[in-house]
Amino acid sequence: MSAPRSFTPREIVSELDRYIVGQREAKRAVAIALRNRWRRRQVPAELRDEIAPKNIVMIGPTGVGKTEIARRLAKLSEAPFIKVEASKFTEVGYVGRDVESIIRDLADLSANLVTEEERRTVRARAEELAEERILDALLQESAAPAGAEAPDRSETREKFRRMLRRGELDAREIDAEIADTSGGPSLSLFTPQGVEEMGVNFKDLLGNLMPSRTKRRRLAIPAAREAFVAEESARLVDADRVRELAVERVEQAGIVFLDELDKIAAGTPSKAGPDVSREGVQRDLLPIVEGSTVQTKHGPVRTDHILFIAAGAFHVAKPSDLIPELQGRFPIRVELSSLSREDFVRILQEPRNSLVLQYRALLATEGVELEFKEDGVRAIAEIAAFVNERTDNIGARRLHTVMEKLLEEVSFEAPDLGATRVVVDEALVRDRLGELARDEDLSRFIL
Ligand SMILES: Nc1ncnc2c1ncn2[C@@H]1O[C@H](COP(=O)(O)OP(=O)(O)OP(=O)(O)O)[C@@H](O)[C@H]1O
Ligand SMILES: [Mg+2]
Repeated sequence: MSAPRSFTPREIVSELDRYIVGQREAKRAVAIALRNRWRRRQVPAELRDEIAPKNIVMIGPTGVGKTEIARRLAKLSEAPFIKVEASKFTEVGYVGRDVESIIRDLADLSANLVTEEERRTVRARAEELAEERILDALLQESAAPAGAEAPDRSETREKFRRMLRRGELDAREIDAEIADTSGGPSLSLFTPQGVEEMGVNFKDLLGNLMPSRTKRRRLAIPAAREAFVAEESARLVDADRVRELAVERVEQAGIVFLDELDKIAAGTPSKAGPDVSREGVQRDLLPIVEGSTVQTKHGPVRTDHILFIAAGAFHVAKPSDLIPELQGRFPIRVELSSLSREDFVRILQEPRNSLVLQYRALLATEGVELEFKEDGVRAIAEIAAFVNERTDNIGARRLHTVMEKLLEEVSFEAPDLGATRVVVDEALVRDRLGELARDEDLSRFIL
């Protein structure tokens, strides 16, 4: 099967290092947890099922990389990944909402991942089939009128094929017969829990019984090819296999990121509702964290080996305020540190997706070349750290607001500037932001 590849802890950390600055301890913890799942699968069967995932709680202030670490981890392991706010389940309108929906959503994501992968594996075949369909249409349209001498069909076909492959027919249009997915009879089933809660997907079941409708459209060849390839790959992918793989993937590799875990711990002053609802949510979560079976439309999913990564600031409540059973299920605790000015200097420019790179790329599309000088970057970092200290500490998110303000004028003017170069040095930063940063009230609103 197309098992997600397994990285060593060292490889995982170095991958995470490409996007996240610092937070070594948290990176190591998630790397070990991920490797442990691979190790578990190599263990003899009798023991394998006994080994519980080493769930993690990441403790740290806002904007220091908790979500980012979990997200990158999921991406690199090609794991189905879902982020939910634990506190959501205590909100009005959500109280009593079935926490099992987390697993159902995760199973859907898993099915999407697997479908994508399966489609990729049949892509080449789908392209062949699409080409034949285009040739069919071309031949039909160029069919000799009755009475005329019939040309050699296969010869013409091959001639068209060569032209097609050289892109010489890209401007031509053909009649494309394409499955019509729009409109048609729609079907909803209402149950007390709503459609999504059904264990079986009735739509899928009935889909096979309903006559398939097609629509004839006049399309340029490249567009027709795209539509044919999509249709053929959907046809080539086996739905049962997708379901099977999706369930397996979610059970063996799924990751649930449970944010704001501290908000459901006792000890947090709450705006509404008694502590009961928070403890209630913890009790609701327990079965899925401990391992149970959840019915999804892809089949029953066992949650025993799903990895849970929880996060929270834990300023007021402590992990020890969680109910003991839940504490026991999150054996690994890691603290993330708040970010310093030095961290900001690195965050601005080191990550693969750094803000400096992003803004440079965005403005380059307008012909504006942004050049960040070292002293300019330092000044930005300093202002961000200063504002965090004086107002609210929102971590690296401050860099976004500061950069946006700093570059507001250039961003606005860029289309009129033509090919220019803008140098972001200390002088420019101080000029644009100096006053603003010093005024606490202003910076509260603007930065
Ligand atoms: N250590 C870091 N290195 C690089 N970028 C970071 C780091 N910490 C935060 N960021 C960036 O800051 C933004 C917010 O980070 P993230 O979403 O991970 O915060 P968080 O710790 O989950 O906060 P919250 O508790 O509010 O959910 C993201 O754009 C992220 O890329
Ligand atoms: Mg977060």
